[in-house]
Amino acid sequence: MKTLKDKIVAEGKVLSDTVLKVDSFLNHQIDPQLMKEIGEEFASRFQNAGVTKIITIESSGIAPATMAGLLLNVPVVFARKRKSLTLSENLYTAKVHSFTKKETNEISISGDFIQQDDVVLIIDDFLANGQAVLGLLDMIEQAEANLAGVGIVIEKGFQTGGQLIRDRGIQVESLAIIDSLQNGQVEFAEENSN
Ligand code: G4P
Repeated sequence: MKTLKDKIVAEGKVLSDTVLKVDSFLNHQIDPQLMKEIGEEFASRFQNAGVTKIITIESSGIAPATMAGLLLNVPVVFARKRKSLTLSENLYTAKVHSFTKKETNEISISGDFIQQDDVVLIIDDFLANGQAVLGLLDMIEQAEANLAGVGIVIEKGFQTGGQLIRDRGIQVESLAIIDSLQNGQVEFAEENSN
């Protein structure tokens, strides 16, 4: 997706060989126009998948997921990372370990918002080691719901998550795949491998 890649080049900051900072449009400040285009792109890539629900994880997945939900005309549910005061029973939970942050969160979704006949599209901002997506997949399996696929805004192709998920036969659509962040430079994978 060219507008996204242009934005990454213009505003992304390479913090190390493995971490890209995109606080100006995705992880802190949000660019609504870009999010709208991201939503349109996800909607077009999954338009024939029969999606009935989008699931993401707080917090940075919510903006792109909501735009995709608007375009696909389906509700969006975000997994919570912290226990909610009002969310205490009928919960699906999964443990998600972040290699980046070296912490494990228990994420949860209310059973009220994911049903057996749902066709779920997972959307998230980054795909690195794939642990967040695996946690969401775990909860979709607990609910015995169906999976449409996974939509990712930025995939770090040099980390293991993409292969881990695709090896399960799951359709993963990443709008920008980064091959390398070495020497402070962002290098994208070829367009047709997106
Ligand atoms: P994984 O789920 O693919 O295994 O990812 P990992 O544990 O490595 O990442 C943990 C958090 O860091 C996630 O956000 C993920 O989106 C984010 N992240 C991973 N790599 C990068 C990167 O290169 N740049 C940026 N900007 N973020 C990255 P989170 O903790 O859930 O944060 P948020 O959604 O509340 O913003």
